Amino acid sequence: MQRKIIIDCDPGQDDALMLFLAFASPRELNILGVCAVAGNVPLEKTQRNICILSDIVGNEKVPIFAGCDKPLTNVGLTAEHVHGREGIDGIDIFSPRTNLESKGAVDFIVDTLLSAADDEITIVATGPLTNIASAILRDPAILPKIREIVVMGGAMKEGGNITPSAEFNIFVDPHAAKIVFECGRPIAAFGLDVTHQVFTSPSVLERIAILDNRVANASHGMLSFFGRYDAQKYRAQGAPLHDPCTIAYLLRPELFELKSCNIRVETNSELTMGHTAVDFWGVTGLPANTEWAHSVHRDGFFDLLIERLSRY
Ligand code: RIB
Ligand code: CA
Repeated sequence: MQRKIIIDCDPGQDDALMLFLAFASPRELNILGVCAVAGNVPLEKTQRNICILSDIVGNEKVPIFAGCDKPLTNVGLTAEHVHGREGIDGIDIFSPRTNLESKGAVDFIVDTLLSAADDEITIVATGPLTNIASAILRDPAILPKIREIVVMGGAMKEGGNITPSAEFNIFVDPHAAKIVFECGRPIAAFGLDVTHQVFTSPSVLERIAILDNRVANASHGMLSFFGRYDAQKYRAQGAPLHDPCTIAYLLRPELFELKSCNIRVETNSELTMGHTAVDFWGVTGLPANTEWAHSVHRDGFFDLLIERLSRY
């Protein structure tokens, strides 16, 4: 049964691999639209990058929308030190044939959800949650239409990657994240605890390289670039594939182990701003609001990713 999804992202090399995985899976996923949000690089680059990636996968029917260019409250932050100046460094940047829709992403999300049936649409969010929170604030009537929100964000045992206590997507817009985690709809969250179990490696890149198609070649270039920073930081052989975990979960949930937890987001403390307080052991007595992913079958994840890349 095809699942209707809206993707919201901030490409980002790992967002790119997430999109490649999603566009390679039309039997399982009906992508209603892809929305850009400011995150890894400013909005004008994330929106352009989605259009470039749309060209690379040969997309001619899924519409692309530009969303929010800054967080709800805090000052914005970008991550060129990780993703490069263009955000998808590792491939040649070109002027894409794919154009943005004139409608804004938040309007698209609200309009699409309002016209849907209850529990019909899944939101996949792999950047700061500004667009999603803005849609909820604009019209809370969209909430019953959301089947599930699948988020890449947060950290518990792994610690933070942009501060000692916060993961980047949540840190950039903690007020938006708080709104999303407290919205009452089913949430599956893929934080650093699980995404740091899927670092790339030279053998993974070799398996991608021998596929030798346009998407695999773009993946190889981007992951080669993306791997340099995190490999040095974590003394690893490559980079963690954060964002593809969301789509892999939708395609093969059995690859992951998740636990029902209450998650709250710090929005006041300067020291721990954006921290996700994951109540993994149920010590607060607060009701669970999230399925927190804590384990993944690494080989199965990469077998899935590479098999889908081979389909292009
Ligand atoms: O912390 C990792 C997350 O922040 C990923 O989604 C990456 O693309 C950046 O958006
Ligand atoms: Ca991202």
